[in-house]
Amino acid sequence: MQQPLNILFTASEVVPFAKTGGLADVAGALPKALAKLGHRVVVVMPRYYSIDKSALEHVPGPLGVPMGPMGELWAGVYKSTLPGSDVEIYFIDYEAFYGRSGLYADEHGFSYGDNDNRFIFLSKAAFQLAKKIGFKPDVIHAHDWHTAAQPALAKSRFAYDGFAEAATVLTIHNLQHQGVFFKGAMDVMEMGWEHFNPYEFEAMDGVNLLKGGIAAADAVTTVSRKYAREIQTPEFGFGLDGHIRAHAGKLYGILNGVDYDEWSPDVDPYIVQKYDLGDMAGKSACKTDLQRRFNLPEWTDMPVIGFVGRFAEQKGIGLIAGAMEGLVHLGAQIVMLGTGEKWAEGFFSDVAARYPENFACYIGYSNELAHIIEAGSDLFLMPSLFEPCGLNQIYSLRYGTLPIVRATGGLDDTIQNFDPAARTGNGFKFYDATRDALYHTVKWAVDTWRYDRDAYELMQRNAMQARYDWESSARQYEDVYYHTLYAKRVKNYQ
Ligand code: ADP
Ligand code: GLC
Repeated sequence: MQQPLNILFTASEVVPFAKTGGLADVAGALPKALAKLGHRVVVVMPRYYSIDKSALEHVPGPLGVPMGPMGELWAGVYKSTLPGSDVEIYFIDYEAFYGRSGLYADEHGFSYGDNDNRFIFLSKAAFQLAKKIGFKPDVIHAHDWHTAAQPALAKSRFAYDGFAEAATVLTIHNLQHQGVFFKGAMDVMEMGWEHFNPYEFEAMDGVNLLKGGIAAADAVTTVSRKYAREIQTPEFGFGLDGHIRAHAGKLYGILNGVDYDEWSPDVDPYIVQKYDLGDMAGKSACKTDLQRRFNLPEWTDMPVIGFVGRFAEQKGIGLIAGAMEGLVHLGAQIVMLGTGEKWAEGFFSDVAARYPENFACYIGYSNELAHIIEAGSDLFLMPSLFEPCGLNQIYSLRYGTLPIVRATGGLDDTIQNFDPAARTGNGFKFYDATRDALYHTVKWAVDTWRYDRDAYELMQRNAMQARYDWESSARQYEDVYYHTLYAKRVKNYQ
């Protein structure tokens, strides 16, 4: 192995402490996989109100964080380890920013008005913390817009504290959210207004944190190879495609892994009967359990189609809603778990009331039900309009629950379409983002389940044997770290 690295890893959500989506899964698992490769990773996140302080170790002494016009703000620090490892995780405790019910938005879905301050604070606090504990990072790994200020901060405001020599890596988990704020955020970052230009932080006279992060980072990664290509096009670029094309030389696509200690039917504590390839009896038991929990008739001659995810446009909920009239008459049962857009919550609840034998949903967040749906369904629907990586379709593979996906981003990279002639594949794909394409592909999957059981079972075997472990993803990140660090050292030396 090459020299072990010190990696400062700052994220706004980390499993099991706080989670709204896949970013938390990644931030909870990748540091552990990197540590297994021999690196020292220090993870930093906010101490949200929902995180019980009494379960954490208090780190004595306040942490001063310079916040421009707001002066220096003093935070508390707590410490713990990522479960099942000795990876250190530090929590930044600042009541005025993080003592709220939500992570980014209130209970009505409105983003907090001071999210710029809340996350610039986190970005800077991580640097101050590293100094406080005497941790000199070789790599600064930031995630999404929340900590996207870090690469630029390391080169400007914090350059003289030893951070300028570190390789800065920014991972884009979702380009839709860019952190666009009033330009006064420049003063809070204390970076100098020379960075307020259309090639760095400026966008239509506001500050775009992700844009500035992409410009400043030594390497930019995103969570699948397909998405790395897609974000360079206007269709998926959310206005930043040109900017990303300009930085394409430092852009890498690395697929997320799966934590198989948590998502695997042979060890899953949430499911009624464990199963695996050699003994699939448990899967039928899980199906019955799922139907029972959702008050659906316990029919065995119909496939159950599962959905788990945020009710956001991204996830294709508009397509599902559009195709619903056809879907409920397909001779299948559909089970949805999710929360988000209010129209969708109302719409799907209404469908459940009207078609109680063929459709059921749970509006809310439940990790337990997510596991139960993965295990008990025959098919899994993920018709995203865009999907940087997507985790649920990869979980589904392991549970032998064949995914029906739209061919975009990580969904396209992980799912091989059923080829009835060659008898290959591990799921069903469609291309056009239309309700007709979705409907016909779901019908194709249902028909395959019903009339071509051999093909269905063959694909199930393909799916369950595939592995997307974190070790191989961590090795790819390691390559990016070394490559970036050496390139940077050579440049500094010249
Ligand atoms: P995204 O990060 O865009 O939401 P991913 O597929 O990467 O999509 O990750 C979503 C994660 O959040 C998965 O672990 C999924 O199981 C979980 N999840 C999403 N919605 C819910 C919900 N309502 N209840 C439980 N888990 C959920
Ligand atoms: C984002 C993406 C999702 C990805 C996750 C973790 O939330 O929407 O596709 O899997 O981040 O990288």
